[in-house]
Amino acid sequence: MMEELKERIQSYKTEIDAFEPGETNASELFRIKYLGTKGIVKGLMGEMKNVPAENKKGLGQLLNDFKIFAENKYDQLKGSSINNAEVTAHTSIDFTLPGDALPLGSRHPISIVKNKIISIFQRLGFAVAEGPEIEDDWHNFTALNMPQHHPARDMHDTFYVSHPDSGGAEWMLRTHTSSVQVREMEKGKLPIRIICPGRVYRNETISARAHCFFHQVEGLYIAENVSFADLKQTLYFFVQEMFDEAVKIRFRPSYFPFTEPSAEMDINCQICGGTGCNVCKYTGWVEILGCGMAHPNLLENCGIDSNKYSGFAFGMGIERITMLKYQIKDLRLFSENDLRFLKQFTSAM
Ligand code: DAH
Repeated sequence: MMEELKERIQSYKTEIDAFEPGETNASELFRIKYLGTKGIVKGLMGEMKNVPAENKKGLGQLLNDFKIFAENKYDQLKGSSINNAEVTAHTSIDFTLPGDALPLGSRHPISIVKNKIISIFQRLGFAVAEGPEIEDDWHNFTALNMPQHHPARDMHDTFYVSHPDSGGAEWMLRTHTSSVQVREMEKGKLPIRIICPGRVYRNETISARAHCFFHQVEGLYIAENVSFADLKQTLYFFVQEMFDEAVKIRFRPSYFPFTEPSAEMDINCQICGGTGCNVCKYTGWVEILGCGMAHPNLLENCGIDSNKYSGFAFGMGIERITMLKYQIKDLRLFSENDLRFLKQFTSAM
């Protein structure tokens, strides 16, 4: 019996030695088979009671060694990477699979239209210029031929800001991007051919048609012999590129202190096609910008010789163009950050 037991133990040892941790959960399977309550070690221990007393000690020693042998193997299996529970989880991941796609954001419609405006004018040789949103009185009003108490100032409901270093001078949130024209002309490098996109502020009651902040693009071309015909053709090219080639334009005389003559330009309503709707107030036409020939006072204020140079300027609201382009009827949608609105522009332009 002793001999038979010894042989069995020896063959178990050989089996254990050859045990490969190839399978998932191999350590647990090993534990159940050899060290579990119904396992081989326990089974052999149970056979001790049939062993004659004089052999008990020797066999006990042998079984103990075998138990330690099996436990060592178990520890080794547990530590080996494949059987480690944590790693087991990893082995079920296929690292070659592509990851989950992150939801992609989209450009804001105002940015889409702003970029489109920039690219159209860049094709005509206009460069982009920018200026500060907090302006002084000179750049926002006075240099633009609107001295103190000029009635045209009342058309802009200005937000004034106090500035600790201003020494009493008035600062404001710019009410239009025309201030950037002044800054560019003051640099004294001619000719000038720029567009100035940016955010402007006015203290207006928020409604479907007005907001306390909005966006404009200003245009300025100063050189020798610039004429009103150049202005017209430039703006006609712009609307054809922005809307479609069949777009119609018309100019109405207007007044701006910094241009003379001044005009407002309308296009035929892109929403009803000219038959009449509430956007064009049943006229078939929608105003999209103000423009004119740079006033000599403006040129002189900025140090430019008005006898030698002439030029044109224009200013348009990006919100207005965007509303016409995408048939949006409420200006407030642009600043509410409602994803249902913003997601509609994912594939635009
Ligand atoms: N600055 C004007 C406004 O905000 C828009 C404008 C009109 C700009 C005529 C111009 C211009 O450059 O020539 O109402």
